[in-house]
Amino acid sequence: MDTIDYTKYPKPRSRQHVSPNQYLPKDRIRIEPNYYPPLRPHLDWSDHFTNGQAPEYLDIGCGMGRFLLETALQEPSVNLLGLEVREYAANWIRGVIQGERPRGILGNAEALWYSVANGLPFIERGTITKIFYFFPDPWFKKRHHYRRAFTHQFLDECARVLRSDGTLYLMTDVPDVDEYQRETMTEHGVFTFEECSTDEAWGLSARTDQENFSLRKNIPYVRVKCRKR
Ligand SMILES: C[S@@+](CC[C@H](N)C(=O)[O-])C[C@H]1O[C@@H](n2cnc3c(N)ncnc32)[C@H](O)[C@@H]1O
Repeated sequence: MDTIDYTKYPKPRSRQHVSPNQYLPKDRIRIEPNYYPPLRPHLDWSDHFTNGQAPEYLDIGCGMGRFLLETALQEPSVNLLGLEVREYAANWIRGVIQGERPRGILGNAEALWYSVANGLPFIERGTITKIFYFFPDPWFKKRHHYRRAFTHQFLDECARVLRSDGTLYLMTDVPDVDEYQRETMTEHGVFTFEECSTDEAWGLSARTDQENFSLRKNIPYVRVKCRKR
């Protein structure tokens, strides 16, 4: 398998501020924000993937994209789209992709600056086989819970875009978030879910940056696979 020399792509030092507004759908913000990820009612896939086809995997909140890029290398025939609300992170991933495409790799990977609070209108119904939603920001305080992307609307969108045999993969190291997500799915009623305690049951070999951090620091985390009823 091809590998990426990440030392060629220094990570940005500045940490741009993400305003609380960016976690809200744009139509719920009363005053037009001057800095907000673009809405994307429609995407022309030939602008994003070398083969011009739609994505089959989505990585929502892809962070600095390690899982996205490694999975794209492992499965070069599958288009993989990452969505990330932090602009510098999406831009850094795009820099890696643009840097590697002349080598004939990562034509199947893309990352967009986007807030998933606005749904997934650019994805056709029943076209996605895997959605990854890994280590979401926990937003511990109750008054910050509105910033959590994992809502009934989010699950409606996941259910709409997933194929009937598709899977939503969840990982978190925060027990409160795990409980909140299970409760939200139970109330929503469309997904069944099972916890995966072994790598075999999980079935994904690439790891996210946050997962690698948890493994290095011995922080336990939970893996859950969800399927439509
Ligand atoms: C703790 S990081 C985990 C990143 C990566 N999934 C991993 O496992 O290493 C959570 C990521 O979700 C992103 N995020 C949070 N809310 C989002 C939203 N509404 N839309 C898109 N990305 C979001 C954050 O900016 C952050 O990069």
